[in-house]
Order: sequence, then C-alpha cells, then structure tokens
Amino acid sequence: MTLRTAVVTGASSGIGRATAVALRAAGWDVVGVARRADRLADLAEQSGAAVFAADLTDPADVAALASWLDERGPVHALVHIAGGAAGTERIEDGRAQDWEWMFQANVLSAQRVVQALLPQLRAAAAESGHADTVFLTSTAAMTAYPGGAGYNAAKAGESMLVQALRLELNGEPIRVIEVAPGMVHTEEFTLNRLRGDADAADRVYDGVAEPLLAEDVADVIAYAMNTPRHVNLDTIVMRPVAQSAQHLLARGPLRPRGFEG
Ligand SMILES: NC(=O)c1ccc[n+]([C@@H]2O[C@H](COP(=O)([O-])OP(=O)(O)OC[C@H]3O[C@@H](n4cnc5c(N)ncnc54)[C@H](OP(=O)(O)O)[C@@H]3O)[C@@H](O)[C@H]2O)c1
Repeated sequence: MTLRTAVVTGASSGIGRATAVALRAAGWDVVGVARRADRLADLAEQSGAAVFAADLTDPADVAALASWLDERGPVHALVHIAGGAAGTERIEDGRAQDWEWMFQANVLSAQRVVQALLPQLRAAAAESGHADTVFLTSTAAMTAYPGGAGYNAAKAGESMLVQALRLELNGEPIRVIEVAPGMVHTEEFTLNRLRGDADAADRVYDGVAEPLLAEDVADVIAYAMNTPRHVNLDTIVMRPVAQSAQHLLARGPLRPRGFEG
C-alpha cells in the first residue's frame, strides 16, 4: 500500500511535533514544517519525517514549500498547527506588533497554506479517493477572556476560515477537521506568550491536575485522520478534566465529593 503523506505545520515543537511523531507511528509519510531548521532536523532524525523550513507568514516561503512538495509527490493531508499567542495585555494596552503577528501566524498563514496546497490535496483526492485538512484552533476561539482579545480574535478568525472552507469544499471528498483544545502544557506556548518569563509561565499551570499534553492532542488528531474517509469529525473540543470552561480551572488534586480528606 502506498503511504499517505501529511504536511504538518508547527512541527518543530509542542503539539505539531507530537502530531508528526504520532502520524509517523500510525504509518503516515510526514513532512514537518516550521521556521527552526535545527529543530526540524532533530524531528527528522527521531521520527523519519521529511522536513522543510519555512516562515508561513512569508508568501515566498509558502510558494517555495508548495513547489518543493509538488516535486516530491502527492499530499493527502494538510495538518495546520503552526500559530501561537503574543502578550496578555488588555485591549487598551495592546501592542500593535503582537496583534499583527497573531493575525499573521494564525489566520493569514492558514489562508496561505490552504491556497498553496489545495491543488495538491485535490490531485491526491482524485487519485486516492479523499484528502484531509486539519486545523488547530483553540477554545480561545469560542470564549473571550480578559487579556486574551488579540489571541481570541485571531483564533476565532482562524476558526471562521475553517468553517467557511468546509462549506466551500462541500461536494468534494476533502474532510475539514477543527481541533480546539483548552489548556495544553507545552514547553514554549506560554513562555513565548509571556515574552520568556519562565516563572510567570510556570504559574499558569501551577497546581492544575494534569493539563492536556501535546501527545493527547496529537492522539486525537491522528484518530480523526485515521477514521473511515466518510467520517468527518467536524469540530473537536478537548480540555483537561480540571478545566470545565475557559474561566473555571480547578487547581489542586481532583477528588470526588465526599472523599476530600
Ligand atoms: N498550548 C496550548 O495551551 C494551546 C491550546 C490551544 C491551542 N493551541 C494552538 O496549538 C498550536 C501549537 O501550540 P503549541 O502549544 O504546540 O505551541 P508551540 O510549541 O509554541 O508551537 C508553535 C509552532 O508553530 C510554529 N510557528 C510559529 N510561527 C510560525 C511561522 N511564522 N511559520 C512557521 N511556523 C511557525 C513554531 O515553530 P518555529 O518557531 O520553529 O517556526 C512551533 O512549531 C498553536 O496554533 C496554538 O495557538 C495551543
């Protein structure tokens, strides 16, 4: 059987890297994409994934990725995980460069990779019966919180793009899957958001019993991609048990009522 190929963006760290590893373990050919070539080289060595260094906010890099993929062979899945948050300031104190970066990295990058790779996904669907797109948004796309506006707006923008894409592709054998996680404890996400303040980043997760891990999200993505091709897990919301809602996060051990002692 020929391997199916998934292009995984954000593959240099966190959820993207874990997804690349999970898909390799599930028998996919994987192309990992991110800016940091050294991290991608490590992924290639550890998992056997192919890699391509690109800044997805740069149209020339996205065009170079598309033509490299065109030469390489069919693309059966686009798994767009690259993105992130910058800052936790209130709207009145927001920094324009943070907002611009968040819109570039989460929304415009998604539009660019869809535009660039859709011809290859269609060709693969014509040849093999179907293709997949998966987008990593966030519960931040669904519920605003103080200090979250830039990220809320960017992830909501990405989520709307995904929903419109599903409508635009109706009638074609291409699945459009959105995975929206709550709190995931990855190495860099909060550290980057808090401009490298490691103590403040640690405090975000302080006492939270078992936040989601990158591998939990990767497992769900791999599951969604490995279901029979007529099954579209349209929107998947996943949170740690300790986080019942964006604003309701239990800190400390989880204990059944009546068994607290
Ligand atoms: N952690 C959470 O709590 C959480 C929750 C819900 C959703 N999410 C979303 O999940 C995704 C992954 O987050 P994570 O926690 O795994 O964080 P992460 O470790 O910071 O991963 C972000 C990835 O995106 C890549 N990236 C950023 N800008 C890029 C650009 N311009 N071009 C190409 N690649 C770029 C980064 O690689 P390079 O720096 O090497 O380019 C990195 O691989 C993000 O979209 C995030 O918004 C995270």
